[in-house]
Amino acid sequence: MVRTLIDPHGGKLVECHLHEQERQAVQLLPRLTLSERNLADLECIMTGVYSPLEGFVSEQDYHTIVSDMRLSNGLAWSIPVTLQVQEGEAKQYKLDSDIALVHPNGDLLAVMTITSKYQPDQQREAQQVYKTTTEDHPGVKALLAEGVVYLGGAIQQINPIPYQDFRDFRLTPKITRQIFQERQWRAIAAFQTRNPIHRAHEYITKIALEMVDGLFINPLVGATKSDDIPANVRMQCYQVLLDRYYPKNRVLLGVFPAAMRYAGPREAIMHAIARQNYGCTHFIVGRDHAGVGDYYGTYDAQHIFDQFTSKELQITPLKFEHAFYCTRSQTMATDKTSPSTPAERIHLSGTKVRQMLRNGQIPPPEFTRPEVAEILVASMREAVASI
Ligand code: ADX
Repeated sequence: MVRTLIDPHGGKLVECHLHEQERQAVQLLPRLTLSERNLADLECIMTGVYSPLEGFVSEQDYHTIVSDMRLSNGLAWSIPVTLQVQEGEAKQYKLDSDIALVHPNGDLLAVMTITSKYQPDQQREAQQVYKTTTEDHPGVKALLAEGVVYLGGAIQQINPIPYQDFRDFRLTPKITRQIFQERQWRAIAAFQTRNPIHRAHEYITKIALEMVDGLFINPLVGATKSDDIPANVRMQCYQVLLDRYYPKNRVLLGVFPAAMRYAGPREAIMHAIARQNYGCTHFIVGRDHAGVGDYYGTYDAQHIFDQFTSKELQITPLKFEHAFYCTRSQTMATDKTSPSTPAERIHLSGTKVRQMLRNGQIPPPEFTRPEVAEILVASMREAVASI
């Protein structure tokens, strides 16, 4: 078959090697039980979503990532992927030795050889990566909760992570690349989201679809903050929407296992790199991508791409302005296409939508498709009934 796909970041898709040591020997290793966030990162490392990372980052890489958004070999990488433990627990994990990484249910998942053990300045990390040190920021809060001692080293897989949910949609980069080849898609736009797909999302994904061969809808299903819509509800929304409003043969739905960091611009770069690894050539970046609160400017996550050359970051960002429904022209639009006044624009904030849903109110069709609204209202009703 002719090779038409974009290279993975750094040139090679990481495939985690199977650990060859006797299982009995692995049983004797010191164990580290992984948090939900660690598990999400481990999944991304082991399946090549985070290529070229072969494990949790070393001290050297950590420092160059934090200060310069590059690995120590110069490759672009914007957020350190770290394995952190509390000080007391850290004593049992020795430099230059193997440890077993364990699922909270007791399953042995991987062996990691500790080649770095370090205690960095987390305030500096928070400031550089998240642009703030306040724990009001959910990413900073998660960073500080995970422990002060960092362990780095390559990973060898023992067992895959035993996920029960979204099993049909857990497409690894190896699989998506195969599917893209089979479908003969050359230009593929990836869409990251942590929300139901509303009309603005639909609008920008469809503009992308007008320009490329295929669209990879790749919703994040790792940990999100508690007031975001849960992934299982979102997955129902995506499926109903794709069934009814998108051409089947031009769209692929697969989940992105990562946890949300809410690091805005730096996370946009990481999201783009991951999507290149899945085989995508273009990455959609709209307003306040991966943002939260007022920590980032509306288009900071677009401007940050200017800090990388097209050699450093092969995937191309597709940048979109803030989209809304324009009542004057009766269509979705942005400032680029609509002369409307603010009063002629329908756009609802996440807070406003959550408020409407809690009150059993259906958001207007100019904001979200009725099929999606119904699922959201029903899930909110269930949530209230179960309290
Ligand atoms: S994110 O945290 O995953 O970025 P969200 O699911 O809301 O949040 O957004 C998914 C993508 O759609 C992001 O690229 C975001 O910038 C973009 N986006 C969201 N809302 C709009 C909008 N109204 N106009 C333009 N782009 C948007």
